[in-house]
Amino acid sequence: MKRVIIDTDPGIDDTIALLLLCASDDVVIEGITTVGGNVSLDQVTRNALTILELAGRTDIGVYRGAAGSMSGGEGRHVFAHGEDGLGNLGLSPTSAVGAREGSAVDFLVESAREHPGEMSLLAIGPLTNVAAAVLADPAFVSNIGQIVLMGGAEGAGNMTPSAEFNAWSDPVAADVVFRAGFDRLVMVGLDATRQAHLTPGVRELLRQLDTPVSRFVHAITRSYVDFAFAEQGRLAAELHDPLAAAYLLDPAVFVSHPANVEVCTEGLCQGRTVVARSSDFPHLTPNARVAGEVDAGRFFTLLLTTLFPDASELITRVVAHEYR
Ligand code: BDR
Ligand code: CA
Repeated sequence: MKRVIIDTDPGIDDTIALLLLCASDDVVIEGITTVGGNVSLDQVTRNALTILELAGRTDIGVYRGAAGSMSGGEGRHVFAHGEDGLGNLGLSPTSAVGAREGSAVDFLVESAREHPGEMSLLAIGPLTNVAAAVLADPAFVSNIGQIVLMGGAEGAGNMTPSAEFNAWSDPVAADVVFRAGFDRLVMVGLDATRQAHLTPGVRELLRQLDTPVSRFVHAITRSYVDFAFAEQGRLAAELHDPLAAAYLLDPAVFVSHPANVEVCTEGLCQGRTVVARSSDFPHLTPNARVAGEVDAGRFFTLLLTTLFPDASELITRVVAHEYR
């Protein structure tokens, strides 16, 4: 059983990642740390608590992290997730449980210290908290067993031609993390997540399954899909963060490649992750594995059967149709 900490800025796709890991029997979620990103720190923290309530997992502690970025400024938000980060459904906070005492950075450092080499860290927001933990404790990097992050791109970005949102939000923090010397760092960037689209057929399946979780995911993805259509002319939206979460449950969803990754912290390409695959640049020391090809059918089967185990047969049929 893997111990996991999730550093997150929910966020519609973050929400699905949290629900996936909450439903999985293969991981123990040690805690959730929040970071301002898709929306403000207060809002993402409220959202994390709301999601845990829905998942029936209010036993998991939520720790507030950084509101702004290490790169200066107040932090940068996006519109893809609605003003409340959960698709503007007008949800009022239902959780009676608040965030825990203590900061995200202290929680990250102490939990990694308590279980050296055993902790997986899933980072699916700007890397501000993770970089702060790296700087706060010289042993943090060696105490973490593996870090899987959603961020960056080998090809085009989504905020600028060069930069993906999480790296663009705090390039200085991303630079600290890639230079930190983690033994096992997996980057799931846009090149991978652009291969895992939530199709209209799978959204319809969510509606037909008609459980509290499927209804919720169907509802929050409405504005997400509308945004993807308006921006990219597609009827399907990318599920960035759940795909990164899937790496913890089934790394065989991906082919990954060793690479040297550097982050541009200023100028036109600010937030760009420069990926030099070891096969092309063997003289550069690899500091990451970068996700390449994705088996979208395997990913959606994992996601949906973990969330809705009673509907496995139906899910297998629909996924085979949607991702053949
Ligand atoms: C990343 O940015 C956020 O909007 C998503 O939650 C994801 O973590 C994709 O670029
Ligand atoms: Ca996110």
